[in-house]
Amino acid sequence: MTEKPWSGRFTAPTDAFVEAFTASVNFDQRLYQHDIIGSIAHARMLTHVSILSEAECTQIVEGLTEIKAEIARGEFNWSVALEDVHMNIETRLIQKIGVVGKKLHTGRSRNDQVATDIRLYLRDEIELIQTELTRLLIALIEVAEREADTLMPGFTHLQSAQPITFGHHLLAWCEMLIRDKARLEDCLKRVNTMPLGAAALAGTSYPIDRHYTAQLLGFDTIAENSLDAVSDRDFAIEFSSFAAILMMHLSRFSEELILWSSAQFHFIELNDAFCTGSSIMPQKKNPDVPELVRGKTGRVYGHLMSLLTLMKSQPLAYNKDNQEDKEPLFDTIDTLKGSLRVFADMLPTIQVQRESMRTAAQSGFITATDLADYLVRKGVAFRDAYKIVGEAVRYCIEADCDLAALSLDTFQSFSPLIDNDVYGILTLEGAVNARCHFGGTAPSQVRAAVQRLRERLGMTTK
Ligand code: ARG
Repeated sequence: MTEKPWSGRFTAPTDAFVEAFTASVNFDQRLYQHDIIGSIAHARMLTHVSILSEAECTQIVEGLTEIKAEIARGEFNWSVALEDVHMNIETRLIQKIGVVGKKLHTGRSRNDQVATDIRLYLRDEIELIQTELTRLLIALIEVAEREADTLMPGFTHLQSAQPITFGHHLLAWCEMLIRDKARLEDCLKRVNTMPLGAAALAGTSYPIDRHYTAQLLGFDTIAENSLDAVSDRDFAIEFSSFAAILMMHLSRFSEELILWSSAQFHFIELNDAFCTGSSIMPQKKNPDVPELVRGKTGRVYGHLMSLLTLMKSQPLAYNKDNQEDKEPLFDTIDTLKGSLRVFADMLPTIQVQRESMRTAAQSGFITATDLADYLVRKGVAFRDAYKIVGEAVRYCIEADCDLAALSLDTFQSFSPLIDNDVYGILTLEGAVNARCHFGGTAPSQVRAAVQRLRERLGMTTK
């Protein structure tokens, strides 16, 4: 049986089931690299303040480096009896280098150790997520630029509302993602704070130098209060809420891709590489990727709720409850990285059915607002113009024709102010080109927005 570090205090061994129940090693072993990086920095700091000798430090660093390699090679024997990643690695170190290994834990506790590990780990993952997020943004911007002139119906209430350009629609998605990116950058400031040195809760009686450790580990700031340092998981909740909002956005994109790739819309065709077929219906090509991303949004929301509830009402300082922070956090990270990656890969391969989009934009009296605006420019008050156009639309519904199909005589029966120039504004091009202001749908504005986006992302403009 493995001897526990606390065996001195205990007379009875841990119940076998309790041992398995309380262990976290099955999931927290993913922190091993960061645990070792943290331990090495701690050992160097202890040496810096003369608690360890240079020779002892070298032994510890070499031992830990070997352990890291053993784990990477899959040769490490993880033991549930040793509870977690921290005690597994420490025990192995002692096994390897003897009594010097027993000195590593001087002036720290697993409480500040684990809080440090998660932050180090999350900091690296945030960088990977930023990369994927930027990749998706770049893909979107490319497609938006390509489709700056593509006409489609814009919707409100999922009813055709006004014509827009597809590029403009895609840039709306970009804005959501840019906000997500900013939220993540902001969250990183709180993640990158060092709890180490708080020890169990009250700090330590050794003359430690937390600034030295923080510098070694690249932390921007040091947790100011030892009680808060070991118990704070706000950073995980913040990350999780960033993730929930991002997944909400991806679920909205997904929903549109699913609708648009249906036979009824036929606005886009998803690439075969991102779809699957049906085992029974030979004609089917299912938009699995966006459907799954839409579905996975649920678990990310769930993890946010888990973390909030985990921390609710917890008294200071560390409680074992906090061990439950890892699985939701890890799954959030995995889900996010996977969803971003598959979206960034899929987007450039989408085939845009420009003709179908255009045809769809032609129905539903989509330029009715433009006719009203036209009358306003001729001196009619907007509400009166709105009413006149409403009557013209009703006439068209009964005559089963489009506004642009009305003769000038018929138009003039609704308002004598309508002239031959009306036909120009009733076209889809006329309608989108007319919306030519900052943030508008006109192709020239889409191109300008694309350039601004590239600058906002620090990309060299084309
Ligand atoms: N496995 C623990 C966790 O994830 C590490 C800290 C344990 N601390 C303690 N006092 N039991 O939170």
